[in-house]
Amino acid sequence: MNDIVIKTEGLVKKFKNIVALDNVTLQIQRGEVFGLLGPNGAGKTTLMRILTCLFAPTEGRAEVLGYDVTEKPEEIRRMIALLPQEAETYEHLTAWENIAYYAGMYGLDKKEIVYRTKRIIELIGLNDRAGDVTKRFSSGMKRKVLVGRALVLQPEILFLDEPTTGIDVLGARVVRHLLKQLSEREKITTVLTTHDLTEIQQLCDRVGILVEGKLAAIGTPVELEAQFKAVNLEDVFVGLATGERV
Ligand SMILES: Nc1ncnc2c1ncn2[C@@H]1O[C@H](COP(=O)(O)OP(=O)(O)O)[C@@H](O)[C@H]1O
Ligand SMILES: [Mg+2]
Repeated sequence: MNDIVIKTEGLVKKFKNIVALDNVTLQIQRGEVFGLLGPNGAGKTTLMRILTCLFAPTEGRAEVLGYDVTEKPEEIRRMIALLPQEAETYEHLTAWENIAYYAGMYGLDKKEIVYRTKRIIELIGLNDRAGDVTKRFSSGMKRKVLVGRALVLQPEILFLDEPTTGIDVLGARVVRHLLKQLSEREKITTVLTTHDLTEIQQLCDRVGILVEGKLAAIGTPVELEAQFKAVNLEDVFVGLATGERV
């Protein structure tokens, strides 16, 4: 069954003379883990911000869960969650408090907050550290708390902007493991950005490669390798980014 939850058509975003997104058309299906891959400045965050109704497109259109991002942003925001690239935990709050506080901002009642926070602490595997302030956490554990914070809204689509960038190798592995578990157990539609090919290969059902604002390729990792007659996704990426066939 073809259940499309995100649909963009000819999406363009300009910042003065910079074209951050150039005619991007794509579709994402329910339950998919979709990876947006591209070097710095490729337009990944811009696309994510349009899909989460933080930026309006300059041209073209985008629909999320059946609603147009410029016409119905409130409806969309109620059903999605975003973990921004620059997000941090509140260091002086515990893991539990970080998640519960966030749920409280969305007006959930006390009983519901406790119920959801408990479940999420279990889901992210921080049972024995729930009462510790996050200041003392490793970078991977902090990211787990941030992913948990986004999940407390029970979103239909989870947007993660560079969830493993800027943390140590071990932390990145921990976060990837969590995201893998979430996609398998919770079946939640996930859109993530990364410039890490390993991450795409380990986590993503399909990938869109952005190069200078253009969607240079889209498909499963295996499809892309076949399409570009490349040995692996890295060759596809290097080929597209440099304009050379590897
Ligand atoms: N708010 C903004 N104002 C001006 N230029 C921006 C803004 N956001 C992004 N850009 C520009 O748009 C391009 C794409 O940026 P971005 O979407 O952040 O890329 P990525 O997330 O792939 O690194 C870059 O050239 C960046 O400098
Ligand atoms: Mg970015």
